[in-house]
Amino acid sequence: MKVGTAADHGGFDLKQRLIELISALGYDVVDFGAGRMDPADDYPDFVVPLARAVAAHEVDRGIVICGSGVGACVAANKIGGVRAGLITDMYSAHQGVEDDDMNVICMGGRVISFSLAADLVKVFLEARFKGDDRFRRRLAKIEALESRS
Ligand code: RB5
Repeated sequence: MKVGTAADHGGFDLKQRLIELISALGYDVVDFGAGRMDPADDYPDFVVPLARAVAAHEVDRGIVICGSGVGACVAANKIGGVRAGLITDMYSAHQGVEDDDMNVICMGGRVISFSLAADLVKVFLEARFKGDDRFRRRLAKIEALESRS
């Protein structure tokens, strides 16, 4: 599985630690930046290219981090085909994939510990969309919205 990562200065340190972890777990990591700590950088510059890569199926899943996770999540969800969730608990980390086909996890580098972030990411990457009719029906309604906007 190919996993994209992106973060601004608020998530840079956490992203670097997570890249080491998910590489060690055997995932193929594609980092969309930031490539260095820059307190003046802007999360859309890294999150939007990652989101486009997820939508184009160039990467299978995305991990995006800013200070709170909010801005990164808002930006990622602007790209059609991206289903991003701001995740802080283990249940949502897998249920968001199983029921809603979440393909991007968003986290706040200033609000989450490394150990919780690592657990959330592991569960997110291992989860699979269940594909039940009701889940597909709901996603079709979201896709219809995307194609109208
Ligand atoms: C950047 O300082 C901060 O505003 C940003 O990382 C994020 O928290 C936005 O949601």
